[in-house]
Amino acid sequence: MPVVSAPGKIILLGEHAVVFGKPAIAMGIDMRLTCKVAEGRSNMVNGQPLSDRYHSYIAVAIRDHWDGGPLNVTVDSEIPTGSGLGSSAALSVALLGAMSAMRGGIDEEGVARAAFDVESKVQGRASPLDTSVSCHGHGVYIDSIEGEGLLWHIERDVRQWYVHHCQVPDLTFVIGFTGVRAPTGPLVAKVKRYVDRTRFAMEVVDEIGTITEEGARRLRDRDVVALGGLMTRDHNLLTILGVSSPELQRLVDAALPYSYGAKLTGAGGGGSMIALTDRPEKVVEAIQRRGGTPYVVRTGVDGVRVEGD
Ligand code: MEV
Repeated sequence: MPVVSAPGKIILLGEHAVVFGKPAIAMGIDMRLTCKVAEGRSNMVNGQPLSDRYHSYIAVAIRDHWDGGPLNVTVDSEIPTGSGLGSSAALSVALLGAMSAMRGGIDEEGVARAAFDVESKVQGRASPLDTSVSCHGHGVYIDSIEGEGLLWHIERDVRQWYVHHCQVPDLTFVIGFTGVRAPTGPLVAKVKRYVDRTRFAMEVVDEIGTITEEGARRLRDRDVVALGGLMTRDHNLLTILGVSSPELQRLVDAALPYSYGAKLTGAGGGGSMIALTDRPEKVVEAIQRRGGTPYVVRTGVDGVRVEGD
C-alpha cells in the first residue's frame, strides 16, 4: 500500500508563454499532496465512488495509465485547490507515482510523461511545466532547445519541450493567495484565442520568452534586484494577455514596496501571486491587510517520493 507525495510549485517566469514553446522556470515548494493507494473492490476516492466529473485527473490516470484492478485512493493535500500552486499536477504525479511504486519503484521520467498526458487530456492544452516540476522537485527550466542538465524531452502534437534541472539558490518567496479559485483550462484557452486573433498578443508572448531567458541568467548569478525587476515586467505582460485580476493586482501592489519584484504565478484569473523579498514579515502583513492569505515558502524540495522510506 504505497504512500507517495509530490510538491506544489511556483512559476518564477514564463507561464502561458510556455504553452507556445517559450522558456519557463518553476520551483517546487514545501507544500505537498499525499496519495495512499491500495487495491480495492471498486475505484474509490476518499471513501466515495470515483466520479469522472469530480475526480477528473484521477479518473483519466486510472483509465489510461493503470492496467491492474480497482484502486482505493486516499488524497490528503496541503496545497489549496485552484490556487495556481500546482495542486492538480501534484495530484496526478503523486497518484501515478504510487502506481509506479506498486509496479516496483518510482520511474521519475515515466511519471512525468504520464502526468503530462493526464493534465493535457483534462485541461485541453497544457505544457509539461507543472507536472515536470512536481515530479522532479527543486527547479526546472523548460526550453525549446536542449541545454545542460536535460531531464526529459516531451512532444505533443506539433509542440515540444526540453525539460532541464535548474539549480535553485536560497531565496525567500512569499505567496499571496487571493482566495479566488480559477481553473487553468479556460485561461489557457483565452490566451490562445487572443494569440490566434492578434499579432500583438504573439509579440507579448515572445517578450515573455526573452524576459525568461534573461531571468535564468540572473537566477544563476543570484542577482535578486534584476530578477525581481524581470518578475514585475512579466506580471505586466501577463496582465496585457488578460490573465491577471483586480484581486491579484491588489496583492502585487501591496507586496511591491517591500519586494524586489512580484507577479501572478500559474494560470492567473485569481489564484496566487508571488513576491521575491528579503522582508517577508512586511510582505506577509501587506498581503493580509489586502485580504489575501500569505504563505512564506521554502524551495529546493524533493519531487515525487515514497513516504516513510
Ligand atoms: C499553469 O500553472 C501554467 C500555464 O502555463 C499552463 C501550462 O503550462 O500548462 C498557464
